[in-house]
Amino acid sequence: MYKIPVSTLFVGKNLVFVPDCHSTNSLAMEFAQRGVGTEGTVVITDNQYGGRGQRGNLWVSEPGKNFTFSVLLKPALRADRQFLLTQVVALAVADYVRSKAGHVKIKWPNDILVNDKKLCGVLIENSLVGSAIQVVIAGVGLNVNQAVFKDPKATSLKLITGKEYDLNQELELLLHCIEVRYLQLREGKVDQLNADYRNNLYRLGERHLFETAGEKFQGLITGVDETGRLLVETGQGARAFGLKEIRFADA
Ligand code: BTN
Repeated sequence: MYKIPVSTLFVGKNLVFVPDCHSTNSLAMEFAQRGVGTEGTVVITDNQYGGRGQRGNLWVSEPGKNFTFSVLLKPALRADRQFLLTQVVALAVADYVRSKAGHVKIKWPNDILVNDKKLCGVLIENSLVGSAIQVVIAGVGLNVNQAVFKDPKATSLKLITGKEYDLNQELELLLHCIEVRYLQLREGKVDQLNADYRNNLYRLGERHLFETAGEKFQGLITGVDETGRLLVETGQGARAFGLKEIRFADA
């Protein structure tokens, strides 16, 4: 159903469309493990019935309306720098969405919000050899033409702009954005990626209520560190939190 993109060098040149599947991340990882996934391979489906999200959540998407796909990448990176991939993909999606809608933010670590509602979720999974990343599977769930959501905090491009989108055309644009940001990483433009990620960070410099295991507190996000921990200025000084250690109590 999808066309091979013409505007990319390698992302999506090997495009695997399956009408339905359990999870494109799982399928892409299977390809990688069988040695059949070249760098830039995209696995995409119209009906993902076991989509996986962050923190063990499910990702539910109305069949045929949205993007559910995974990109297979092979960056030459140490495992302790894997947050760079999170930044690459989140920024790429934010770049793409910004061409259609205003007020786009990245909610740490990699949710894409428009007007405080979630438009896109990203799930990055790696396989490692020793301390090196062997393969990265970057899974993207982006709501495009879906008009009704159970979750009042979810949104779609259609709800934001009132337009219906051609998934084929949009895939090309989005894959191009992913490749541009990934090439920045390959060219070593890490300072640029860090600065852009910070500039896109939801609620940067604002005071809000956070929740950790058994504790709620007011804090102010000051940025992220190299390993991707969220840096929060709290009543007890500056603290750094990993993904499973903190959440917004009011978002
Ligand atoms: C999140 O929880 O926000 C992340 C959601 C990621 C969903 C995408 S859809 C394509 C890919 N395959 C999966 O099983 N998950 C990701």
